[in-house]
Amino acid sequence: MHFFNYKGSRFYAEGVPVEKIAKEVGTPCFIYSSRTLVRHYHAFDGAFKDIPHLICYSVKANSNLAVLRTFIGEGSGLDIVSGGELYRALKAGVDPKKVVFSGVGKREEEIEYAIKRCILMLNVESPEELRFINRIAGRLKKRAGIAIRVNPDVDPRTHPYISTGLKKNKFGIEADLAVKEYIYAKRYLKSLDLIGVDCHIGSQITKLSPFIDALRKTKGFITALRNEGVDIKYLDIGGGLGITYDREKPPHPSRYGKAIIRETKGLGLTLIFEPGRVMVGNAGILVTRVLYTKQSAEKRFIIVDAAMNDLARPSLYGSYHTIKPVKMYRGRGEVIADVVGPICESGDFLAKERELPPFKSGDMMAIMSSGGYGFSMSSNYNSRLRAVEVMVKGREFRVIRERETYRDLIKGEGMP
Ligand code: LLP
Repeated sequence: MHFFNYKGSRFYAEGVPVEKIAKEVGTPCFIYSSRTLVRHYHAFDGAFKDIPHLICYSVKANSNLAVLRTFIGEGSGLDIVSGGELYRALKAGVDPKKVVFSGVGKREEEIEYAIKRCILMLNVESPEELRFINRIAGRLKKRAGIAIRVNPDVDPRTHPYISTGLKKNKFGIEADLAVKEYIYAKRYLKSLDLIGVDCHIGSQITKLSPFIDALRKTKGFITALRNEGVDIKYLDIGGGLGITYDREKPPHPSRYGKAIIRETKGLGLTLIFEPGRVMVGNAGILVTRVLYTKQSAEKRFIIVDAAMNDLARPSLYGSYHTIKPVKMYRGRGEVIADVVGPICESGDFLAKERELPPFKSGDMMAIMSSGGYGFSMSSNYNSRLRAVEVMVKGREFRVIRERETYRDLIKGEGMP
């Protein structure tokens, strides 16, 4: 549930008309609802209130400091995948003991940074990485909290680009080998603190069964570890719970919670979660203005001032994002049109063959569900300035990231 709604014919973000914000800060702009973020956090957290758990919001979904601060303020930890995300996390004031570090390609300086800051654990994705972390921790004379990411080989039934728990994916270590890696790591307890097991199978998962399948396999794995005398404290289940973009009916976090609690009963572990999209996806919109409309022999195009550099998801995954007019139209008169941006590629679209109100030049539209993997995946392609981000709280709103300027665009460039 989110707090973007019509009041009369005007579209509001909480208590503020979207048109007012867009007129003040310009378009394209991302608008986030603070109340929705808080609500989503508690919907997820509340689902696990009866068991020991830690929520580590996945920074990659939306890494704006104000968003991170909002979650941290509610008690959240963070899931990071780079030194840059660790820097943001610390700037936002996270407790390092609530940070987990995932990713297949951690660099030396990133590992060092994480160990020096005493984060909770590094989720290790390959035997080589484990040895590398061991060496770095040894050199720093510190102990690195470790969880091995197990690849459970289950099909999350999502877009192939965001499925991660299949054998053919680059993520994690297959179970048999992972047991051997823990046994290896036991020889280096001076520098490796074996505290967890990690398993993340993919994103935008709209059924419970892949999570359950993965959990069952992971439980078997934990038993095998215990038989080898490795006793861990944390089971990191990753993220992946899907949201409604169109007609998907993903389980509510409470249902997801019940299923997971049932499945992990008696394990005696603290559960860690790394939700990203479910926390921020529907808490943000991208507002864009219509520049032109044109009718070709075959198609109608609505050309807007946002593009694939602002919201890559439709171009990259063929994703659907609902589009709503910022001011409702009187009467009907829908048209079927492609909503496209100014970028010089035919792949630059935000919607295809969509039934839409008769938008005309100057009108504004809200591209829904853009709070997750929206701004965080944006780029400067075509030397476009990255959009402004705004946070609404009740009847107030604040710019939480200014629109870039031409000067920002060439920062660090030189002409030798
Ligand atoms: N943990 C790990 C290790 C991950 O790789 C991810 C997402 C998450 C947690 C958070 O997953 P979530 O709860 O958001 O599903 N750009 C794509 C999504 C990529 C997901 C990458 N990993 C999209 O726009 O759909």
